[in-house]
Amino acid sequence: MKEIVFNNPNVLGRSWYLLASSIEVPKGKVIKTQLHDRELVVFRGDNSKTSVLSGFCSHFGAHLGNGKVIGNTIQCSFHHWIYDQNGQCVDIPFQSKEISKQVKIFSYPVQEKYGFIWVFNGEKPLFPLPDFQNKGKPILLKNKILKCHPHLLTMNGLDIQHFKTVHHLDFIAEPQITQTNNFSIRLNLEIKISRKNIFEKLIYLLSQSQTLKASFTTWGSNMASIETNIGKLPVCVLFTHRLTLEGGSYSQTFLFLPTIKKLRWIFRLDLVIRFIVKFLLGCLLVGDIKILENLKFENPKFLKVDSPLKMFISLVEELGYFSPGL
Ligand code: FES
Ligand SMILES: [Fe+2]
Repeated sequence: MKEIVFNNPNVLGRSWYLLASSIEVPKGKVIKTQLHDRELVVFRGDNSKTSVLSGFCSHFGAHLGNGKVIGNTIQCSFHHWIYDQNGQCVDIPFQSKEISKQVKIFSYPVQEKYGFIWVFNGEKPLFPLPDFQNKGKPILLKNKILKCHPHLLTMNGLDIQHFKTVHHLDFIAEPQITQTNNFSIRLNLEIKISRKNIFEKLIYLLSQSQTLKASFTTWGSNMASIETNIGKLPVCVLFTHRLTLEGGSYSQTFLFLPTIKKLRWIFRLDLVIRFIVKFLLGCLLVGDIKILENLKFENPKFLKVDSPLKMFISLVEELGYFSPGL
């Protein structure tokens, strides 16, 4: 029977997941890592290409994380079977027979972007990674484990009503869904800055404007971004969440900062901006976390205004889930 994917802690959706930082895996190194209920290995060959394979050898199940990178292959530590970057077994010592194409382990689609290694949970990627290359250099703002499923965290930004009740935001016009495709939903927001709390006071101080335009976009089932301009400064934040075995999220947040070379070394302006954005995000998310970590999202009663949430749930079900077996 097909499982429900949305908010299900037992299955992992087809989406991109941030697995490790690129500097953790230099040429010739293999590391062990986990993705939900799976053991994985990440290794980098002589050709600089990173591979992510299911963690256990198809022979007797030794962990390949204890193995050795040889050229562009990985050798199991037990009986020295060798696998290439696609997980195909290419050498079995003391065996002259040709190796069957069936002797292989699952190899995840990999991409290196923003200084991190990402894998797609599926045979092939169904959509690209979020692209903010024109927004400057990404900085990892924080890592956090949250007791809430990634789908609920991601969907929260499409919940128009909660912006008013939890965050006390006023809108110039009702937020609109402006773009949809099969992996992304975007909500355009035009917020009235009336300086009634510290969040709005700070935004006003920085932008000298009574309006803040922002767009919130979901990417797949577990990533979301906020793009805005505070005064003349373009600000882009990317939230990524990875489902944990306990049904929570390992969450990593990135800030994309334009390079302001001249000022950077004099005032360390980047550090100041980073601090301000972190503070603003803290103001914005403080109300959410407590609610989301205690949410029992079962049999929801959707209203018309909740239609972006329903769209998100359908999108997650459409993408489906994937498990490679071995
Ligand atoms: S368990 Fe890997 S070669 Fe035997
Ligand atoms: Fe919120």
